[in-house]
Amino acid sequence: MNINSICVCGAGTMGSGIALASAQSGLYTVLYELNTVVLENARAAMQKNLGQLTEKGKIAPGETEKILQRIRFTSDIQTCLADLFIEAIVENPEIKTGLFNQLAELNHSEVIFASNTSSLSVTSLAEKIKNPERVIGMHFFNPATVMKLVEVVKTVYTNEATVQMVVELAKQMGKVPVLCQDSPGFIVNRVARPFYIESLRIVEEGNIDFPVIDRLLEASGFKMGPFKLMDLIGNDVNYAVSCSVYRQLDNPERLKPSYIQEQHVAEKKLGRKSGEGYYKY
Ligand SMILES: NC(=O)c1ccc[n+]([C@@H]2O[C@H](COP(=O)([O-])OP(=O)(O)OC[C@H]3O[C@@H](n4cnc5c(N)ncnc54)[C@H](O)[C@@H]3O)[C@@H](O)[C@H]2O)c1
Repeated sequence: MNINSICVCGAGTMGSGIALASAQSGLYTVLYELNTVVLENARAAMQKNLGQLTEKGKIAPGETEKILQRIRFTSDIQTCLADLFIEAIVENPEIKTGLFNQLAELNHSEVIFASNTSSLSVTSLAEKIKNPERVIGMHFFNPATVMKLVEVVKTVYTNEATVQMVVELAKQMGKVPVLCQDSPGFIVNRVARPFYIESLRIVEEGNIDFPVIDRLLEASGFKMGPFKLMDLIGNDVNYAVSCSVYRQLDNPERLKPSYIQEQHVAEKKLGRKSGEGYYKY
């Protein structure tokens, strides 16, 4: 089977970026999102993003319209027909499998279901989907239009054809696919957990303010300090990933999620997407 059509589900931080990266690489892309306001905001953000690329001379004038014409924005799941689906919806296994099962009813039995989950077990998602051999992890990084790495997460069920198609697709999108095992947080999010959790712990201990930690880490070579990065990712998403990795690794003290971050989520201080996180936007 060739991948001729892609449907990205969820038009939030990641879904809108993945859909734009897909359209920029020449693929016809459906972007499906339940919330029509989020969908409209995604379209506006893409237009702005492409406008900036035109100003910088990175894309030719007139390209913006051509790229946007390759994306069909929809809130109607009945119209979501594609060869490959990439879900980037809320980090909740029941909601993700519920969506894939709805899509499985509407599409032929060989369509590929790729999850952009940061931390959930792709194997346990696959187990709840008919024909689990076509379920795979395709983990993009934020911002998805810029970051090259894609972790391709194979489960015990995933067949070789699915792996190959997803690897090829990632390359076609200009990305660098890296195969990894289905383990908590895969590679990057596992390694990155202490970066966030230790930084939050220093603040919890009351020793130092978060902007200082950001400045020090940036001065020591990190592109972004942990608090700026958590605001970019979204505190809800980052906290969900921390909780999920912690649970899956049997609650090690060193990876205990931070109550400061829990509080930020409860207060809807989610970061850039809500206008306030650790910083104001
Ligand atoms: N934010 C990041 O930096 C990042 C990086 C890599 C992976 N991820 C993963 O990507 C996924 C999405 O994260 P995000 O930051 O884009 O979240 P987000 O909250 O910005 O966006 C999620 C969107 O999904 C929509 N949605 C929820 N249920 C839906 C459904 N059933 N059908 C269609 N749309 C639905 C919501 O309305 C929302 O707009 C999560 O699994 C997350 O772990 C996030």
